[in-house]
Amino acid sequence: MYASEPFSAAIDRETGTLASPDNIYERPLSAMAAMYEDAEAVKAALAGGDPIIYKVYEKNMPELPGELQWCMSVTMPGKIGREYFMTKGHFHEVRDTAEIYLCTRGTGYMLMETEDGRTDAQEMRPDVAVYVPARWAHRSINTGDEPLISFCVYPGDAGHDYGSIETAGFRKRIVEIDGKPAIIDNKP
Ligand SMILES: [Fe+2]
Repeated sequence: MYASEPFSAAIDRETGTLASPDNIYERPLSAMAAMYEDAEAVKAALAGGDPIIYKVYEKNMPELPGELQWCMSVTMPGKIGREYFMTKGHFHEVRDTAEIYLCTRGTGYMLMETEDGRTDAQEMRPDVAVYVPARWAHRSINTGDEPLISFCVYPGDAGHDYGSIETAGFRKRIVEIDGKPAIIDNKP
């Protein structure tokens, strides 16, 4: 009858850690090399080590529509060529599930798109919450020089679908042009 019990956990706005996470994962560049536009810059970055691009601290709650998953997402600062460090991005497996990101540190964008080709980018900065509606793929992009950190909450049964967006790529990229972030079309 009760799928979970009340509890609380401290989050650290500055480091992005979540107390007693059920799962921590780290994505190095090698796990998402094909997602960056500049293959030569990827090769050079891998030759110098394999930088961690982002980390997620998760609470794994029951995978039920009435429950909530929650996490802290930490995207490191940096660029591959002119393209800023970013998360892989995903749709939710259950498409009709939304998500809220509350930024606690850093600056960047939440880049979003729908399967039928609409795109959007919302600025992220401390104390700004971004609403990612159901059916929108989403990716965090760090355009600043410190970690981009957010607290995230989404329905318990949402799941992650990396596959479709991983193959096709997002329709937009965020790159540095003349020292500033610019949103450009992703060349096919
Ligand atoms: Fe999500």
